[in-house]
This record gives sequence, C-alpha cells and structure tokens, in this order.
Amino acid sequence: MRKKIFVTQLIPEAGIERLLESKQFEVIANHGDTPLEKAEFIRRASGCSGILSLLSDKIDGSVFDSIPECKVVANYAVGFDNIDVDSATTRGVWVANTPDILTDATADLAFSLLLAASRRIVEAHKFCCEKRFEGWKSKLLLGTDFNGATIGIIGMGRIGQAMARRAIPFGMSVVYYNRNRLSPEIEGETGATLVSLDELIKTSDYISLHCPGGEGTKHMIGSRELSMMKSNVIIVNTARGTAIDEEALADSLASHKIRGAGLDVYEREPEINEKLFGLENVVLAPHIGSATEGTRDRMAIMAADNIIQALNGKRPSQAVNSIIIKG
Ligand code: DGY
Repeated sequence: MRKKIFVTQLIPEAGIERLLESKQFEVIANHGDTPLEKAEFIRRASGCSGILSLLSDKIDGSVFDSIPECKVVANYAVGFDNIDVDSATTRGVWVANTPDILTDATADLAFSLLLAASRRIVEAHKFCCEKRFEGWKSKLLLGTDFNGATIGIIGMGRIGQAMARRAIPFGMSVVYYNRNRLSPEIEGETGATLVSLDELIKTSDYISLHCPGGEGTKHMIGSRELSMMKSNVIIVNTARGTAIDEEALADSLASHKIRGAGLDVYEREPEINEKLFGLENVVLAPHIGSATEGTRDRMAIMAADNIIQALNGKRPSQAVNSIIIKG
C-alpha cells in the first residue's frame, strides 16, 4: 500500500509532481491557500506518513499525537517556528525546512524594503497618482543616503550575510549582532564587524533583522531598544514579526522617534497593527520574502525531497532535528 502524504495548502505544482513521480505515495493535497482549522487539519492528515506544511500551519504535540503514522513534517519555509520541534523529536518525527534556496530572494526583498523606505518610493508613487506633481522642487520627498552610512544586521546567518553583501556596493559599513562570531573569511568578505546588540542599535543608520523567530528572540526590539536608536534610523524586518514589539514600533514611527520602517512580517500574522496603516514612513509587504516564481518552485521540490528521503529511511537533507534511524 502506498504511503499517504498530506500537503496542507496550495504549493507550486512542481512539489506535488516530485512526490508523485517517485510512484511511492498517495498525495492528499489541500488546494486552498489558507491554513486549515486544527480539527480539519487532523481529519485530512489522518493516516498520513508525511506532511508538507506551510509556515502558517501550527503543528504541536497534540497534532503529532493525533497522527501517529506521521514520520516527517517538511516545512515549505526556512523558518520553522510554527512547528514544535521538541515534540516532534520525542515522537521520532523528522522536521525539515528549505534553507539556502531562498536566501537571495529574501535578501533582495529586505534590500528593496530598505531602498523603498529610505527613498520614500511608496509615498512618491501615491504623490504622482494623486496628481500632486507640480514640478521639480528642492525639498520634495527627501530621503536618506547610503554611502557612508552604517547598516546593523541582527542575525548573521545566510540571509543576514546576503544582506551585508548587498549593502557593501552601496558604500555602507556593516556591523552585526549574532550568537556566534563569523569566521574571519566571512567577516572579511562581508566587511562585517561583530558588536553588542546595544551598540548596533545605538550606532546604525539602517537596521535589518534576519534572526529566527520563537521565544529566544521575542521582542528583542522593544521600547527600550527603540528609544536608544538614532532618530534617522530605518528598520527592516523580513525575519519574524515577533522579534519586534509591533505596538512600540508603531508608536515610535508615529511620533517620528525613528525615521522609517520596511516590514514584511508581523507579530500576529496575518493581522497587522492598525496604527501602521495610517503612517507615511512605513512600507508594508505581506510576507513575500521568498516569493519569486523560481524560488517557490525550488522550495516545493526541496520540501518534497525531504519527505521522500525520510520515508525511505534516510535523514532528510534539510532536517532540523535528529532522530535515531532504526533498522
Ligand atoms: C521563510 O521561509 O521562513 C520565510 O519567512 C519566507 O519568506
């Protein structure tokens, strides 16, 4: 009998094709593009050996207990804070993600938000559409410079490093805050200097977050940190919304204690703090960091491969936990 795989929401066809071409599995795919309620999720996943999940699916111990056949959850995302990895590990379930292949797309979006917030692209677009352009003016929509500025990168993994590489040709110096110091080679190549979080916050003209989500980074940027920042700072978050106290950020933007922000992720996604909607100094995107056609196809194939490997008794190439393989 073929093992069953549950694909929790709409993904690119390439991922489903990958699962089917191995001729090993029956694929139960939810073609909707919103997360299922827990009871419905469990009902559809019942009896499945593998789950291909999205970052909006919350998967905890009670889900694993309801689907005891499940041996692998392959998240179609690099982040996996939606999955209780410890609960998976104690039940012998592999958890895998899709690193590397979305690094460039996500860093590109982070840099786009930085440029858009700094050079006020969204305001400029609205200004033109409202037919307010009356001619060149010396003080119209002034932005901030990049050359000679300092960018502070919080979380210097693959995406943080890719962000640093984008900042260098713009003439910025790079400081970073990370759990571990980078190798001298990567520090040399990215021109990045390790500093404390407080120093980064106090000295940066631009701050970009690339840290994981979860309890360890919750509200690492809160009122205290915001109050220490330069008044001209622009903050970009393409990592996880929980890393910033969104209410405190909205207040700092509204009172112009900081200059601007470019956000792709939110504390209570898909909810966005209403205060942000009325502000001109923020550019908002709906969590589209990895959203390019090629990247999303590659993510779907990688997630499928992680499932195929696990259900063939191997360690998934992108496993984020360790399971003892029996037999
Ligand atoms: C991820 O894959 O975790 C990213 O948030 C996608 O943008």
